Amino acid sequence: MADTFLKLTVTLLLSFGIITEGQDVKDRYYPRYHLAPPYGWMNDPNGFSVFNNEYHLFYQHNPNSSFTSTVVHWGHAKSPDLVHWEHLPIALYPDQWYDAGGVFSGSTLVENDTMHVFYTGNINLEGQTPSTANKQAYATSTDGVTFTKYAGNPIIPAEDRQPNIRDPKVWKHGDTYYMVLGNSYNNDTLGRVLLYSSTDKISWKEESILDQSNGTMGYMWECPDFFELGGKFVLLFSPQGVAAEGDKYQNLYQTGYILGDFDYSTHKFTPTSEFKELDHGHDVYATQTVLDNDGRRIVVAWMDMWERNYPESNDGFTGLMTLPRELTLSSDGILIQKPVEGISRAKGRTLFPFKSYRHRQSRMYILRNKAGEINVHADGSEDLKLYIGSGPVQVSISYDADKGQVTLDRGGTDGIRRTEWKPDGQLKWRIFVDASSIELFCGEGEVTFTSRFFPEGPVEVRLAQQSRAEHVSVHEIQRTVPHGGYYNKHWCFLCHIG
Ligand code: FRU
Repeated sequence: MADTFLKLTVTLLLSFGIITEGQDVKDRYYPRYHLAPPYGWMNDPNGFSVFNNEYHLFYQHNPNSSFTSTVVHWGHAKSPDLVHWEHLPIALYPDQWYDAGGVFSGSTLVENDTMHVFYTGNINLEGQTPSTANKQAYATSTDGVTFTKYAGNPIIPAEDRQPNIRDPKVWKHGDTYYMVLGNSYNNDTLGRVLLYSSTDKISWKEESILDQSNGTMGYMWECPDFFELGGKFVLLFSPQGVAAEGDKYQNLYQTGYILGDFDYSTHKFTPTSEFKELDHGHDVYATQTVLDNDGRRIVVAWMDMWERNYPESNDGFTGLMTLPRELTLSSDGILIQKPVEGISRAKGRTLFPFKSYRHRQSRMYILRNKAGEINVHADGSEDLKLYIGSGPVQVSISYDADKGQVTLDRGGTDGIRRTEWKPDGQLKWRIFVDASSIELFCGEGEVTFTSRFFPEGPVEVRLAQQSRAEHVSVHEIQRTVPHGGYYNKHWCFLCHIG
């Protein structure tokens, strides 16, 4: 009776516009097995960690709009296997003087059954140039759900000469804690990564400049990560302001790595490689890695890019994460990326091809729910082309055997991304499609392309007429991420009523 009365009242209030109805997050572009926000906005992965044998992934989140990041919070999800995700309550709100302009990116270190969170508090300085300032802050959690900000924050105060200094990534080596921070210096014209150390996680000392732009590598380096892999140290970061060069650096901002040697006693990093792009598609930015309990180094990235208007914003959400990928280092100094093993547990039906008369007899597979894995093996000495799409929205992936190049073309303006790759013998492509995204892993994962696309209907997969493959298999992938939710911030207290 009380419920009926309440429902009636709500209906009346809604019809007179006294309260605003929320919006269902639409399913058409919402990923089935990639982590996305339940509603609202998502950007960078944060605080990637293992706590009580579960993976935790936080992310930059605006729960109030899917159109813009504005004042970001830390959204939160957890998973037993990096494939099945559960949404958790928002972990950090911008509710302090030092983070009122946004709880920016950061990391989580797990020690003694406690999550130690390091993040950047952003402040907007109205009427001042520069208009923002970053300070580093600290919070803890013992239950992995609720977080307490340290009363003595900020732990690293902003310095006027360094308004852009952010995205702390913290790890422990021996008895010492280390932190890398991304920074812009020389009046915001050059990017660099700074190294700090601490013995108590609270007071930090600047130790060295790990590496810096020589002028060609951009004005700001965001989201740095620094770790040992295969006998080398990897400095992974996202530089802004790198000019396009041939097929390279085609996106607004880049993500890539420099390999080198590092000496903990001098804090000196000696690069032994050039900057290399991590991915060659349109939509990878702001990576973060975790070293898990099995000793795997796993990377995840925001599968999006700043300053693009994605159609999903109209559906109540924006942004998703890439598949978590295990990293290894090849003998020739390339980061190899492999989708985490757990993904095979989400496999659904194997699809059988049928002849398509529309496409003059070519064999076609149809992913009705737009989610699947495609494996193609072919003779590496021949050209190959594959189409994936729905109606006018098509992505083509092609291999040019003479030039030794792979091209992904998602159509429209700026649709093409290309890089060099020559398979060692057999050509192998592993492709993941998920509602509005494609991830292509070439060979063992030495070259990847990650791009968004927006098919309306079921996704068709077919080889071009002239292409020959030795093996093509297509599997559906089941839903492992709860679909969106109800964007009902205006009357959430009523949302549990029948
Ligand atoms: C990278 C970034 C970070 C910052 C965050 C703000 O995409 O600009 O440097 O902490 O996003 O949302």
